[in-house]
Amino acid sequence: MANLFESVQLGSLVLANRVFMAPLTRNRADADGVPGELAATYYSQRASAGLIVTEATQISPMGKGYINTPGIHSPEQVRAWSRIVESVHKCGGRIFLQLWHVGRISHSSLLPNNAQPVKALLKKGPVVISFYRGEWCPFCNIELHSLQEALPKINGLGANLIAISPEKPDSGIVMTEKNKLTFPVLSDFKNTVARQFGIVFRVGDELQDFSRTVFKNDLALRNGEDSYELPVPATFVVDASGIVRFAHVEVDYMTGRAEPAEVVAALEAIVRP
Ligand SMILES: Cc1cc2nc3c(=O)[nH]c(=O)nc-3n(C[C@H](O)[C@H](O)[C@H](O)COP(=O)(O)O)c2cc1C
Repeated sequence: MANLFESVQLGSLVLANRVFMAPLTRNRADADGVPGELAATYYSQRASAGLIVTEATQISPMGKGYINTPGIHSPEQVRAWSRIVESVHKCGGRIFLQLWHVGRISHSSLLPNNAQPVKALLKKGPVVISFYRGEWCPFCNIELHSLQEALPKINGLGANLIAISPEKPDSGIVMTEKNKLTFPVLSDFKNTVARQFGIVFRVGDELQDFSRTVFKNDLALRNGEDSYELPVPATFVVDASGIVRFAHVEVDYMTGRAEPAEVVAALEAIVRP
């Protein structure tokens, strides 16, 4: 039988021993989810374990479920975790980050602009879902800006609004701040959700090159993967039972957007059939 203190191979890593530190939520990050200097001390003090699995760490501002848990979605958080990893490595340790998104168990008091937890939205009433291409797209900015203006009417009809793009969460934050959006802007890695709506297409090679060289806009960097796939801009209204009651999907990325008035009319038809 192997000895607890013998080394062990785990994938590409050789671990010094078979003692693994279990993930332990500590609630010691700051209000922005940035782990502090003491976290580096804490984890490096435990580097003699064969492997440390860190406290659970949220992958998006919408994934937070408890006060002062750390995240890994903002540049400050990434920098702080890099410092922690460096200190553990310096002490000869190995460390994995445990990722989480707590979904429906969160609470509006923990989420940006007091948003409702994602899964709970349908329980509250209809949901307007706007798929957009990215923060780099001026037409998407205009569209989300005008949806923001219609938000009081949307909320007034008992509905919620979310926007989804395949970009990494930091671009979602830029989009939110630039347009002063108060509804959740979500990151759909590899268009997993958009694919379920059948609206994903691949950007052609020529356009990829043009975008990279002329606009200095590489979708692979923005989206964190190199499929060069995007959603067709699309707006859906889903009623509280999960049925799509309004769909606007048009390949013309400039003029093919749903008007906020159409969205409001679709909601009125649900509320006052
Ligand atoms: C304070 C505390 C925080 C924890 N945080 C996490 C966590 O972030 N992620 C996780 O997967 N498990 C978490 N756990 C579960 C532990 O990793 C462990 O699996 C559990 O405590 C069972 O082991 P034990 O019987 O030795 O306590 C936590 C447990 C405690 C007591």
